[in-house]
Formats: sequence, C-alpha cells, structure tokens
Amino acid sequence: MSTQTNTSRLAVMNFLNEVAGDFPDAISLASGRPAEAFFDLERWLDSIPQYQREFASRRDLSYADAGRLLAQYGRTNGIVNELIAEQLALDEGVHGRSEHIVVSAGCQEALALCMLSLCQDKNDVVIARDPTYIGMTGVADLHGIEIVPLHSKDDSQLAAELEEVAEKLRHQGKRARALYLIPEFDNPTGTVLSLEAREALLSVCAGQRIAVLEDNPYGMFRYEGERLPTLYALDRAGCVIYLFTYSKTLCPAVRVGGALVPDTLFGSAEAARTLVANLGERKSFLTVNTSQLNQALIGGMLLAQQGTLRELIAPQLEHYRRNRDLLLAALEKEFADQRDAVHWNRPEGGFFLTMKLPFSFGQAEVLRCAREQHVIPMPLSFFSLSGTCQDSIRLAFSNVEPSLIGEGVARLGQFVRQCQEVCDAAV
Ligand SMILES: Cc1ncc(COP(=O)(O)O)c(C=O)c1O
Repeated sequence: MSTQTNTSRLAVMNFLNEVAGDFPDAISLASGRPAEAFFDLERWLDSIPQYQREFASRRDLSYADAGRLLAQYGRTNGIVNELIAEQLALDEGVHGRSEHIVVSAGCQEALALCMLSLCQDKNDVVIARDPTYIGMTGVADLHGIEIVPLHSKDDSQLAAELEEVAEKLRHQGKRARALYLIPEFDNPTGTVLSLEAREALLSVCAGQRIAVLEDNPYGMFRYEGERLPTLYALDRAGCVIYLFTYSKTLCPAVRVGGALVPDTLFGSAEAARTLVANLGERKSFLTVNTSQLNQALIGGMLLAQQGTLRELIAPQLEHYRRNRDLLLAALEKEFADQRDAVHWNRPEGGFFLTMKLPFSFGQAEVLRCAREQHVIPMPLSFFSLSGTCQDSIRLAFSNVEPSLIGEGVARLGQFVRQCQEVCDAAV
C-alpha cells in the first residue's frame, strides 16, 4: 500500500478501503455507512408485489404482464416519481412536481447528471464549502469541472464570500454555475446551515443566477432541536435542485435516489422543463434507466408505509442517536484533561462529527493509528478542496457497534497522547 502523504482526491476512498482491509480487526470510525442491523431484505422484497399490483391496476394490465414490464427496460426518468414526490412532501416539506423528478442510481448519479448538465462549458465552475463531500469532488475531478472553495467556517460570512467569489470568477471570464451544499448534518462536518445563512445564500444565488445543488441524505436523521426548512422550500426564485436518496432511509444497495428540479428555473418554466429533459437525455446514455425492480421495491415500501418513511426509520434514528450519545460521552471522558487542545462538535443529527487535534493527522497517521491502536478515523483533509483541515478528523458513529465506541475512543485517546508527547518533545 502506498504511504504517500499527499493523497489525490480520487484515491482517497481506495486508500481507506485498503486500510480497512489490511486491519480487519480495527474499530472503524471512518466508514459513514448506514447501520446494517436495520436492513430487512425479506420484508423489502415482499413489498415488490404490492407495487406490481398498483402498477398493473394503473396501466390496466394483468399482474403477470405488469411483472414482465417491470423486468424490462423502462422510462428513463423513473416510474415511482409520484410516490417519491408524495414522500418528499410528507417527510421533508419538499413540495415538487413528480414530472420534475429524475430517478437515478442513488443520489450520486443525480449529482453527476446535474453537474454535467449545468457545467457544459470549460469556463463553468461549481462552488462548494471547504471541506466537502468526496462524491461531489470526485465527479468534478473526473470530468474536469473546476471547483472553487468557500472557506468561511462562520455561516454568517458565507453569502458575502459567495458574492465575492462569483464576482472574481466573472472577471476571469468564468461562470459560477452551481453551489453545492449539504445543509443538514453535512458530510464531513456534521453541521447544520443556519436559517439566516440559507436565506442569504439563496438571495445571492437568485441574483447571480447560480443554481443550488441541495444534497440531503441525512435530513431525516435529526435527533434533537428544531427542523429547519430546506433550501428547496425557502427558494422563491427557482434556483434549488433538490437531491434525495433512499440509501440511508432504506439501504445503499437499492441504488435509488434522484433530483427534483424546481417548477421554474430562475423564473422560467420552459428552462426547468429543458433541464429535466437534459438530465434525462444524459441519463439515457449513462445508465439507460434506474432498475425498475429496485424502484418497485421503493414503490412497494412507500405504498406499505402510506407514503412516509418516518415510522420505518424510527428504530434506526434511535440507534444513531444512542451511538452519537455514546461517542460524545466517550470523548468527554477520554479527553477530559485536554479540553483546551482537543475540540469537537455536537451534531444534532446525521452520521458524523469532527474533531480538531493539536497536530496534523493525515494518511501516515491513519496507518499508524490503525496499526498501533487498531482504530481508524478519517482525516478531514481528505475532504479538503485546498489542502486545509490538516489537524482535524471525521468520526462516523452510524455503523459502529455501540459496545465498541468506548473502546475505539480510548484507543484514539491513546494515539493522540502518543502523538502529543512526540510533538512536545520536539519543541
Ligand atoms: C452527502 C452525500 N451525498 C451523496 C451520497 C451518495 O448517496 P447515494 O448512495 O444515494 O449515491 C452520500 C453518501 O454517503 C453522501 O454522504
């Protein structure tokens, strides 16, 4: 395995998989996967016939013919769009048109389709907070799309920074085409974008005609505090494209997610319809259509749950909340005497928190931490757009055994103390 310290963004996921593979007994606080304990394949597969019956009755087909049609190639933009529109409205307060939904192979495909549709010229640029989700930077890197970072840690500065960045880009002959945001329990930071920042950013985007890609895989997993309206719900100008997924509420293997385009794009219904058509056109040559069997599973579950997934995810939510609390309690205990040097945030939901350490924690440190202490955290610098966050790590608490959280943090504490002793000795 390579031990270089400058990991290219595209190599990061590979590196982490290798570390996890090389140290199978290590406790992983790196993987942000949903908890497998709640995967209920038999029940989900059993829901497919319910959708098949609905599909048959809507199209005036026999049950058997409906099954044959579901097993065929299908409509590029999806077949469960109405059920998805209903669920987004009920669960997330996102009211959109089902015809403006493009169902995709997870949210990842929707993200790629949107970025490619919005950034067609070499001078078209995407703006994102630094650090940000690797899946977005990966799409941009693969397709040669430039990403310009917003550095403000303080929400209240973001809109002014965005305005400044857009202006600077204009002077360079470039165009800020999209702003990528994860407003709810951000991956990697675990933070929530304030209501004021949401409104201020929307106002800049409306004025500058910058589309917002609102990625919201964790919004359903709020453990405490008041839910904020999505950017999509706050948008009056028609600039927000809402990205959704069933990877966390159901499971990643179903590979169903998508994009919801606003009724009008910057005031134009025609432009919104054109974007939907453009996304579909690209999709038809990328994945043809999203598996209809997988869509039937989602459709069946949505029918069985009367349109809302809130009740279904309640046990998961409780598990994640408990894991978060266990992690916070373990951190309090382990780092009690280092509170002035080690800092972390308390996420109100989602799968992650971040920790700031008094030294650099990069690829070499992950390897040492895995080898010597058998625990794997994720360097935050892996998510950075500009080489920042060298002294921070992301801790994921979603898919770690509750009984291992205390031990994992104790081992991390041990590693941090070792590193600090080395730093202190060097001073
Ligand atoms: C912020 C964010 N967006 C998108 C995705 C990808 O989701 P999907 O499985 O729907 O492709 C993830 C997965 O972890 C994520 O954290």
